[in-house]
Amino acid sequence: MTSRFRLPHLEPPPWLYTLLSRGFVMQDIHGRFALDLAGFLPPGARLLDVGTGPGFLLKALARLRPEVQLTGLDLSYKMLWHSRRVLAGVEGRPGSRLVQANAQALPFRPRTFDVVVATFSLHIWPDPAKGVAECARVLKPRGWGLIYELQREATRAGIKALARQLGLPAWLLYPGFRLLSLQHALTAGELKEIAAQAGLIRSRVRPVHQVFWRLEFEAPALP
Ligand SMILES: C[S@@+](CC[C@H](N)C(=O)[O-])C[C@H]1O[C@@H](n2cnc3c(N)ncnc32)[C@H](O)[C@@H]1O
Repeated sequence: MTSRFRLPHLEPPPWLYTLLSRGFVMQDIHGRFALDLAGFLPPGARLLDVGTGPGFLLKALARLRPEVQLTGLDLSYKMLWHSRRVLAGVEGRPGSRLVQANAQALPFRPRTFDVVVATFSLHIWPDPAKGVAECARVLKPRGWGLIYELQREATRAGIKALARQLGLPAWLLYPGFRLLSLQHALTAGELKEIAAQAGLIRSRVRPVHQVFWRLEFEAPALP
């Protein structure tokens, strides 16, 4: 494990993170992730979002795949207060389940979920390998774990391409992304190291949407 994992992280308070997440940049990003995830979800699947924050990924998924059973989990009661309000705005479907717990000790039986996802959360977990091992433990056979983080190696060209797609000036997005990356981005090597420490056998790190990594892993083989 590199020393950077041990740096204290500066996180905005839940109300501010929720406010920022309502902006079109985060809404666009969660929309992209929801579309990606839809491809991994069989009909009626069960999905767990670890470190769900204000719940905007779950909201995008609820609109895209109303039949999927969604569970959001977060360590912070305050974040869950916000996600309850965000998800109450999704009409025409039963509410998502929200659970207060630690990623490093998931309160679920083994083989419960078809997909376990975490977006921008793993880099905060004190022991990310333990958290990833927990995500793998609760996956059903043939299920998928999908963990999204910012790319520390994101190139100027990649950031510019994203800026174009978002309709933002690159001169604005570029310094903002670099600043955010100082504390909140991981390298592909770090993600591979975490996967190895978690004991994952079938995993890979893929670049997605220009500036993100997706650590993908399959459920561990049955004993
Ligand atoms: C940067 S926010 C990301 C929220 C959301 N996934 C998103 O994409 O907007 C990180 C979230 O991870 C949660 N978190 C941090 N450490 C955690 C842990 N050990 N277990 C569960 N959640 C945790 C925080 O409370 C916060 O809501």
